[in-house]
Amino acid sequence: MTQPQAPGLTDVPETMLWTLHSRAQEAMRADGVISDDKAVEIYQGLDYDFERNFGRSNPMAALRAQLFDRVVSAFLEEYPGASVVNLGEGLETQRYRLAEVPCEWFTVDLPEAIAIRERFMQPDARHEHIPLSATDRAWMKRIPRDRPVCIAAQGLFMYFQEQDVRDLLGDIAMQFPRCHLVFDVIPHWVSRASVLAGGLPLTRHYRTPIMPWGVYRFLLKSQLKSWVGRSGDVSLLDYPPFPRGPARLASKAAPLMPGARQWMPFVVKVTLR
Ligand SMILES: C[S@@+](CC[C@H](N)C(=O)[O-])C[C@H]1O[C@@H](n2cnc3c(N)ncnc32)[C@H](O)[C@@H]1O
Repeated sequence: MTQPQAPGLTDVPETMLWTLHSRAQEAMRADGVISDDKAVEIYQGLDYDFERNFGRSNPMAALRAQLFDRVVSAFLEEYPGASVVNLGEGLETQRYRLAEVPCEWFTVDLPEAIAIRERFMQPDARHEHIPLSATDRAWMKRIPRDRPVCIAAQGLFMYFQEQDVRDLLGDIAMQFPRCHLVFDVIPHWVSRASVLAGGLPLTRHYRTPIMPWGVYRFLLKSQLKSWVGRSGDVSLLDYPPFPRGPARLASKAAPLMPGARQWMPFVVKVTLR
């Protein structure tokens, strides 16, 4: 067995380790919310003190991955052989969790992120790695236009400025007029807190990068419509409830209270036709 290696990541790319911490820890539990041997292999193959930096894991990112799995696999069931583009995919192992479904998979991430991804996951005939910023429109030229496409961004847009999200979504809608989009959103108050504090301190040893883009749920649909120039079908999805612990009851009750939902993160699914 090879020795674990330090990831050597900083700034936003380092946050891929935070979400991996959640997914791998869940996958290692008998009662975890996802099953993901590849995430565990990567987690154990890195020389990085996850707990010291991020604290004890919580299932939030694993629950989000579970929700993204549901949306992407429903898309692929409807359009077998379609393309999936994953912006800012980092060390996400969704392609293994959905391995049974035929598709062509495109990972777009910064060069340093693709380099660490390729320590563990190789591109092949069905999986292409594109080492570019999601804001660099050159990635769009690499996506086939002869089949449906689902463009997913999990844990990415909150690190962008609002103008960048707006321009990117507008250009996606123009370049891929019939596409499915799925991305997660943090509420405005979390974004503000991160900007005011210069990042959210998770532990004494780690502070997240700032998260400039956050939106309250009630504003999202109209904002999106003005950004993409048409409405499409937009669904706002709640995270699945926490599976255990004191947060379980609160996360089950919160979506039932309209006011409380405004304060929570959510996932947006858009079908442009
Ligand atoms: C919180 S991590 C999420 C990783 C993965 N999607 C997940 O859920 O585990 C943020 C990811 O965004 C990537 N990223 C940051 N800026 C980016 C950019 N401009 N274009 C593409 N990816 C970017 C980082 O490299 C990292 O992989």
